[in-house]
Amino acid sequence: MSAFPPLTWQVCASCGSEIPETDPHPRCPRCRGLLELRHQPPAQGGNALRATFDARWGVRRGVLASGVWRYREAVLPTADEHILSYPEGNTPLLASAAVARWAGAPELLLKHEGQNPTGSFKDRGMTVGVTQARRVQARAVACASTGNTAAALAAYAALAGLPALVLVPKGQVALGKLAQALAYGARTLLVHGNFDDCLELADQASERLGVYLLNSVNPFRLEGQKTIVLELLQQLGWEPPDWIVVPAGNLGNTAAFGKALVEARELGLISRLPRLAAIQAAGAAPFYHSFRAGFKRRFRVRAETVATAIRIGDPVSYDRAVRAIKQTRGVVAAVSDREILAAKAVIDGAGIGCEPASAASLAGLRQLVRRGIVGPRDSVVAVLTGHLLKDPHATRTAPIAIAPRIAEVERVLKGMK
Ligand code: F0G
Repeated sequence: MSAFPPLTWQVCASCGSEIPETDPHPRCPRCRGLLELRHQPPAQGGNALRATFDARWGVRRGVLASGVWRYREAVLPTADEHILSYPEGNTPLLASAAVARWAGAPELLLKHEGQNPTGSFKDRGMTVGVTQARRVQARAVACASTGNTAAALAAYAALAGLPALVLVPKGQVALGKLAQALAYGARTLLVHGNFDDCLELADQASERLGVYLLNSVNPFRLEGQKTIVLELLQQLGWEPPDWIVVPAGNLGNTAAFGKALVEARELGLISRLPRLAAIQAAGAAPFYHSFRAGFKRRFRVRAETVATAIRIGDPVSYDRAVRAIKQTRGVVAAVSDREILAAKAVIDGAGIGCEPASAASLAGLRQLVRRGIVGPRDSVVAVLTGHLLKDPHATRTAPIAIAPRIAEVERVLKGMK
């Protein structure tokens, strides 16, 4: 390590080894445990740091215009000329009376991460991941994906001029995502297997074939995803909500959110921790089963759900996510495919729109309100993780074909309320 103590370094969550931030191994080189990043706290804290972030809010050009790099002190303070930004982030916090009513939570806001450049929150992790790939002089980047990570990786690799390889489960990826990966020029492999098989393969490829792995195993991805939380806190004037609700698949976001919240409190950005609610699809709910067992057992399942983005049976960030739930006095819930599609219809019908996995957060919130876990006056931010157009087959209504006659139009109009 050049400077001591370094500004940023990696720590293995399993064996505690400390390794330099530019070590390209996706896991701990000693024990293969998951790595996480640590940064020296910036000189500023509390009010001064909040003021720095607030002053950057109006920046229109350059890396500080990004809703990720605005928080660079908390994300990756050491990345300078290598930063590759679209820019991304700066997603809205939306209020909808219809959606709030359906959930039974009047103080509900929706953080729409589908409004990132490639249509999902993955861009926030990918800007940091590909920046790091440049810093370690990676020759190629790769990931396994249920679709959105592949789309984001393909776009950011293209921006960086790096070859990209993506592995997706054949027949299980929504059309919009596949189209993006192909259009941005990633070598796209349709694997006869599920997401968990793809991840195993991507892991081996990174070990044996020397490509830089950009799944959420990669701790740099999670540093970027922390900014979903930092940005929503800033949008709320640094007054935290009572709850943050997020769909949960591979558990990268759950882990990143917990880390963001604990660090935000340590840095004096907030004085109180919101509670996290991680929502799984009932057919892909190993983390929910573990939660119900008091996290004494780790479950693995064969996953099945309409929400293909979260069709994951063996989430990689399991241990990190357990810590996030414990640290925030969080909860984990599971919702059926019917509940997910009902929630999606409400979000779509309100003019907001999202892909099925995103709607799990609203379905889960409604369940938690009904069970009395979220109070009717609690303030809640639910994260919508992906754009409506990602999965064009998942809408519930169909168009009506007519002959080109006004009488036909009139007939349809009469049938409308
Ligand atoms: N929502 C969407 C739209 C996603 O694409 C994903 C994950 C999640 C939620 C779950 O987030 O894994 O951090 O718990 N998609 C990954 C992918 C697995 O490959 O695109 P998580």
